Amino acid sequence: MNIVKQTNQNTNEAIISQDIFKQYVFSNEKSSITNYKNSMKKAIHVISKHVKKRKTPFTGTSIKNIKERIESIKLENFKGQHSLNYVLEELKEIYLNDCVHFHNPKYIAHLNCPILTPTLVAEAFISSLNSSMDTWDQSTGGTFIELKLIEWTLGIMGYPKEGDGIFTSGGTQSNLMGLLLARDYYIKNNYDIDPKMDGLPSEASKFKILCSEVSHFSLKKNLSLLGLGQNAVVPVSVDSDFKMNITKLEQAIRKQKELGNIPIAIVGTAGTTDFGSIDPLIEISRIAKKNSLWFHVDAAYGGGLLISETHKNKLKGIELSDSATIDYHKTFYQPVSSSGFFMRDKSFVDYIKYHADYLNSKEQEEEGIPNMVKKSIQTTRRFDALKLWFTLRIIGVEGLSSYLEKAVENAQFTANFLRERKDFEMIHNPEISAIVFRYTPFFGNDVSYCNLNSYIRKAIFNEGKAIITSTKVNDEVFLKFTLLNPLTTTQDIEEVIALIIHHGQQYSLKN
Ligand SMILES: Cc1ncc(COP(=O)(O)O)c(C=O)c1O
Repeated sequence: MNIVKQTNQNTNEAIISQDIFKQYVFSNEKSSITNYKNSMKKAIHVISKHVKKRKTPFTGTSIKNIKERIESIKLENFKGQHSLNYVLEELKEIYLNDCVHFHNPKYIAHLNCPILTPTLVAEAFISSLNSSMDTWDQSTGGTFIELKLIEWTLGIMGYPKEGDGIFTSGGTQSNLMGLLLARDYYIKNNYDIDPKMDGLPSEASKFKILCSEVSHFSLKKNLSLLGLGQNAVVPVSVDSDFKMNITKLEQAIRKQKELGNIPIAIVGTAGTTDFGSIDPLIEISRIAKKNSLWFHVDAAYGGGLLISETHKNKLKGIELSDSATIDYHKTFYQPVSSSGFFMRDKSFVDYIKYHADYLNSKEQEEEGIPNMVKKSIQTTRRFDALKLWFTLRIIGVEGLSSYLEKAVENAQFTANFLRERKDFEMIHNPEISAIVFRYTPFFGNDVSYCNLNSYIRKAIFNEGKAIITSTKVNDEVFLKFTLLNPLTTTQDIEEVIALIIHHGQQYSLKN
């Protein structure tokens, strides 16, 4: 791109060539549309070629190597003047060639799903038209599409008609909203204070949230953001399948009260990050009611089961919660970001609602003009709902549910396969699609299973043929598969297990 800079003789102002506006500002100008079409075509060509060529989830390239390549591009060179072709070629070097492929059947590490092609078409609309979902005058039809999907999700959850929800950036943000509502609901109902206006009462330092000891770390982070501190979390022990132990929950509530603390909420997890275990939601709801506690369900992982005729019963009890988190970018196969926060009663929105005269004035609300910003802790917000819309319109509920069902089947296969082997230790029955286990061969020497399994995870990543991950259980290192890809076959799983054994044996030879 040739930027022609001249100086206006009279005003001394720089005049930039009109080309840079016409071609690069996305508009209905002919040169802009031409540039858009050509550029997108090139991008799609590069991505398709790259995806087709790469057969492994990673290349095994070192951190040093990738860092050096990016560092070789100096900030002084951010002057533009490169063609799209040049930037695409450069991108191959600094990112594309070595990026991790979540869609590879042997990527079975974290909660990253392969994504669906209709969502990529939706992404083109989302980014190109760049609607913002905060107000009607920035989103128009987008608001009603999002509302329709909220209504659909409330339906699959079994929430009452009075329920409401909002798309969020992820499970972390949805959990933040759940805890925020729990905190403010308690304050409004127990103190002569409006937390939105006045902040927290001095007793807030005694507020406690009960959740299982294997619940997601975002609860702790969020409680510190909410001014309650990470110590507000009371971890409740789990049973042998990593589900919250109800007797221990009741004991913990009693103990906190005896200590003079103030339990305000229970968070049940429907699909823990490591084990996919689902807490006993119906019993938790009963205990929450008995003790007048808010009940939030973190179904960031397990939410996808709600659309499966085979598995939806596992989430029975979510309909009894006060609020819930569902991550579409996990088990609904959506690209990041796509998540939702739901509440059983739309009046809870009042705890976060704010009227800004420039955006969603009271007068506009009285006129009946819809706005979503009152329900969100974000202001400008992407039209992520469109991806789920395309998915449900093109693939449909049954098709979508079959993907996770396949992953659950694969998890059962893996568990049975490993259980039959004497050199592996399985420590739970997978309920969704995460499996935690470790390689425990008898090598005849004094091998530490922690060091062995850590080595295996790293060696597999550095080789690039597969990606698995690890976690700790009682301070011991275990390996973890998170199976989400419906294209992963039992043969893929057996091949990854063979890699574990291979690298394990290599380790034993070295040690
Ligand atoms: C149970 C659970 N809750 C919340 C989260 C956070 O979700 P996100 O990464 O979308 O913020 C995760 C992420 O893995 C999770 O597993």
